[in-house]
Amino acid sequence: MMIKEFSVNEIIKDLIQIANESIEKRGRFLISLAGGNTPMKIYEKLADASLDWSRVHFFWGDERCVPMDDVGNSYGQIKKVLLDKIHATNIHRINTDPSTSSGQRLKPDSAATHYAHTLKFFAEPPLDFPRFDLVLLGLGEDGHTASLFPNSPVDVEEPVIAVTAHYQDRPANRVTLTPKVFNEAREIWFLVTGKNKAEILNTVLHGEKNLQLYPAQRIQPKDGNLIWWADVE
Ligand code: 6PG
Repeated sequence: MMIKEFSVNEIIKDLIQIANESIEKRGRFLISLAGGNTPMKIYEKLADASLDWSRVHFFWGDERCVPMDDVGNSYGQIKKVLLDKIHATNIHRINTDPSTSSGQRLKPDSAATHYAHTLKFFAEPPLDFPRFDLVLLGLGEDGHTASLFPNSPVDVEEPVIAVTAHYQDRPANRVTLTPKVFNEAREIWFLVTGKNKAEILNTVLHGEKNLQLYPAQRIQPKDGNLIWWADVE
């Protein structure tokens, strides 16, 4: 585990390096995106990067169960700044949008099952899902990450689950990847900025080890790098 000072330019530089290495070694770069506000400046800058975008595949670590054009939908927000030049076949969103193309409502549980199937297409046997080349995660003030919230079950076997959680004014029904998937990643980056995160960051990194209470502590890559990008505050 490493702590680096949050810098958009540094993050983009390292991200591009990892992307190019992944494409060179495996012909593809699989990245799992975080929702929330912190990563948005990264996504905006990433859009200008020169990468072989045809080899880059975008996934989401979690999604809220609201329509795509709702401000609470992570895919919808990220699409605005990053995905315009990306081919649809390279965008693998968690389809929680009730108005699915086939018209029927995707309930959170079926959205989770649906996404588990999507992950299977990119699986790295013997796993049923891919080893992400890079996972981006945020940290909530309550210690949650993705949509893994305090007091949620710790030992979850499924790769993708539906959850209901209340955090600030954000949508409650969500679908999230689980540590089973995250921890197989080759590289996991937490992006944490702002004074309001100082206390929880200190607790998660240096305080009581409590996977139930601080889900971000559940993120421990089995065979990968874990970097915390944090600003001075
Ligand atoms: C989400 C994210 C969530 C987020 C944290 C931090 O969908 O909301 O997955 O885990 O990363 O809540 O959000 P901020 O970056 O907005 O503080």
